[in-house]
Amino acid sequence: MKSVDIEISSVCNLKCINCAYNSEDNIDKQFMKIEVFTNILKKIKKMNNLVYIHLVGLGEATLHPKFIDFFELIKDLKSKGVNIGITTNGTNILKYVDVLNKFDTITISFDAASAEVFDKCRPGYNFSKLVENVKKLTNKKKRFSFIINNYNFKEIEAFVELSKKLGATDVYYEFANEPWIKKNNRHYDKTNIKLIIDKLKKSNDLNIVLKDSPVSGVCNYFDNVLKFNQDGTTSICPFINKKILFEDIILSRKALTEDIENLKYSECKQCNHFSIMNNGTKC
Ligand SMILES: C[S@@+](CC[C@H](N)C(=O)[O-])C[C@H]1O[C@@H](n2cnc3c(N)ncnc32)[C@H](O)[C@@H]1O
Ligand code: SF4
Repeated sequence: MKSVDIEISSVCNLKCINCAYNSEDNIDKQFMKIEVFTNILKKIKKMNNLVYIHLVGLGEATLHPKFIDFFELIKDLKSKGVNIGITTNGTNILKYVDVLNKFDTITISFDAASAEVFDKCRPGYNFSKLVENVKKLTNKKKRFSFIINNYNFKEIEAFVELSKKLGATDVYYEFANEPWIKKNNRHYDKTNIKLIIDKLKKSNDLNIVLKDSPVSGVCNYFDNVLKFNQDGTTSICPFINKKILFEDIILSRKALTEDIENLKYSECKQCNHFSIMNNGTKC
């Protein structure tokens, strides 16, 4: 496993329209205990091919009252060549700008290029504040994220312009995974959007990525990322609310792979990470 996601907080301060955080009632909204984190670090330090630790989950990492302590615990992994990253909604950039700038990679979730669309997609925060605050970030890799949905698809091109203006190094697009979206009648055409993004890739220096279904393996996520929940259990992916012990996810990999392949989890049917070889939705 090359990459580990750690959910230090399953608590959030926004109500984004795409997010499972707001559509699932049985999410355990808690902060990770430091002991749980140190235990996870012991386990992952034994992984010899680890290249990336990413503080992300179903919640906002920077809301953890001990956020700085968590960074202090992982920062020495940088000297071992592990890339340290975080995905944030940006609401605490000013509070933690010094520590956030020490992450190798920071992903800021925007989902909009205007205040009007931002308010629809990410209620609870303010577009102008986010724009001002990201200017204070100096990370080597500054990745701006845009999850495509019915409200924002017309701003795909404007988002590249905004990202350039704000000094992003990477622009990340992904079609919203749909099982959690109440009205999932798509108003956009995926093929058309892929063409628009291809054109943007050719005419811009930024690293522009559209996450698409993989052509091999069972799932982009399960095959490459080990996800730790705030209680120290692991999950198949951030979108399936089924907790598994670390030991079991390692020992039962073959059985879990078969379960995913055989569509045991209905969420996979509408997920962009599910392999197209296994009937994942290509368009
Ligand atoms: C769940 S959030 C957690 C981190 C942080 N709270 C944030 O918003 O950046 C991680 C990423 O998942 C994205 N996301 C939320 N709902 C999604 C969906 N239905 N499909 C794909 N990505 C989604 C968010 O936009 C964000 O970039
Ligand atoms: S996308 Fe992030 S900020 Fe928005 S509700 Fe989900 S966890 Fe919170």
